[in-house]
Amino acid sequence: MKSITTMALGAAFLIAAVSQGQADPAEGKAVFEAGGCGDCHYTEGPAREQTIEDQLSKKGPELWYAGSKFQEAWLAAWLVDPKPIRPLKYNSLKEDNPGDHPKLADADAAPVTEFLMSLTSDEVESGAVKPKKNPKGRQIFTKKMPCNGCHEYTGRKKKILGGRSGPSLVEAGVRLNPDWILAYLQKPTVFKPVKMMPVFVGLLSDKDMMNVARYVASFEPKE
Ligand code: HEC
Ligand code: HEC
Repeated sequence: MKSITTMALGAAFLIAAVSQGQADPAEGKAVFEAGGCGDCHYTEGPAREQTIEDQLSKKGPELWYAGSKFQEAWLAAWLVDPKPIRPLKYNSLKEDNPGDHPKLADADAAPVTEFLMSLTSDEVESGAVKPKKNPKGRQIFTKKMPCNGCHEYTGRKKKILGGRSGPSLVEAGVRLNPDWILAYLQKPTVFKPVKMMPVFVGLLSDKDMMNVARYVASFEPKE
């Protein structure tokens, strides 16, 4: 009898969630914990890494600001069908990304997405960056600070160009929140106190950081 009641309650809950058109972050947190996601990702800020050893001991990227970093639609789709983001294996400069990230079932991806999107940082100003291809941003990206020495992006004729040591920025406009890209460049100590990427504070003016953030945020799917 008890199980029938539980099932009925579960069904009522599902119907309520569906009719509201959204999943429950608390349910997503439970799925995240039960699914072992927390073995490789931490979800509470601030950044914990203080030394290179801290960074190297991590098994996956921190997710405490996931809701400020990612676009929700991209996240929901990626959790069901994860494709490599970093061309190389996490924390490696030699091995290829094995592409073996755990996959979530459709029913679990929605609540986990809600949970991760609820993890935001006050250090990201919303609505600050309007994606736009701009010559200044392109020049910084490909020549002045060569971001493309470490990051893949889509060049002419949809060719993938660029280096492989950083996360791929192909489709960055679909994956990343434009405002976060700027905040990430401006506030390295908040988002990556220990990192492989150079700090551009002091090298790029605020205006140029904005230009390059707008440029990266305009990267579209390769089709
Ligand atoms: C064995 C360690 C491991 C486990 C378990 C794991 N992940 Fe990951 N996760 C990684 C690594 C490594 C990456 C980087 C993948 C890439 O760059 O392609 C990653 C990337 C991610 C990203 C993108 C983060 C970014 O900054 O690019 C999200 C979101 C994510 N994982 C969510 C999850 C969820 C949800 C679960 C549980 C179902 C999970 N992960 C389980 C290791 C793990
Ligand atoms: C020397 C290599 C290098 C250069 C040059 C470089 N990056 Fe990075 N970048 C990285 C690495 C490595 C990461 C991953 C985080 C880390 O360890 O720093 C990263 C992370 C990022 C991210 C976050 C991506 C994600 O999914 O987490 C963005 C956005 C980014 N870089 C943009 C830029 C821009 C814009 C420039 C030029 C102004 C640039 N990078 C120059 C190596 C580089």
